[in-house]
Amino acid sequence: MIVAIDGPSGAGKSTVAKAVAKKLGFSCLDTGAMYRAVAWQAVQDGVSLADDAALGELARAYEIAFGHEPGDPLPKTVSIGGVDVTDAIRTAEIDKAVSPTSAASSVREALVSQQRRIGSGGDYVVEGRDIGTVVFPEAELKVFLTASDEERAHRRVRQNVDRGVGSIDYDEVLADLRRRDEADSTRATSPLKAASDAIEIDSTGDYIETVIDRIVELARERKR
Ligand code: DC
Repeated sequence: MIVAIDGPSGAGKSTVAKAVAKKLGFSCLDTGAMYRAVAWQAVQDGVSLADDAALGELARAYEIAFGHEPGDPLPKTVSIGGVDVTDAIRTAEIDKAVSPTSAASSVREALVSQQRRIGSGGDYVVEGRDIGTVVFPEAELKVFLTASDEERAHRRVRQNVDRGVGSIDYDEVLADLRRRDEADSTRATSPLKAASDAIEIDSTGDYIETVIDRIVELARERKR
């Protein structure tokens, strides 16, 4: 079974996806981490972020892998070309580089086929921007998770404080979220939008636990 969770940056997708997967006994795939890993590699290799073909070549050449602790279906680390980039992909530099990287159609092609391969291997909660529309249009449950800009920026700042990476300046984080929303929603290939059969959940002001429980309940209904 596939549970697709799409939505803008900072809507709480990662927290919700992990918790839902844990409660359902599913694994979890963070597709944003894959775009971030390719962006990191492009910066590392000095590849122009305007060069669609070169970015696509990178995405095909380097293997992206998720690391698990024994017995835990939830991944703890992400690597590209054998280098652990779990923290390195969360910096402000990569926040910026990932928009042009994820707008490159050749990168999307390469990563979407990897995502389909991974997800077809079992029960997965898959989070991203185009999971319900492009990657798994036949997903049994599709959720489109949103929250107000301000709430998303506050959450992202708290997350960055906890992780010790990324900007902790609220105004900077808010401006970056809005910039990425605009880039994600207006790009030509697979723009961010809710699938017509997605259930929209606005998590503004709600306890995240309430959102998690609602999705778990919906998934259990659909799985029967
Ligand atoms: O979820 P995130 O913020 O880590 O995602 C990083 C970037 O990757 C985001 O700006 C949009 C892009 N992305 C995408 O285009 N398609 C996906 N399925 C997931 C992420």
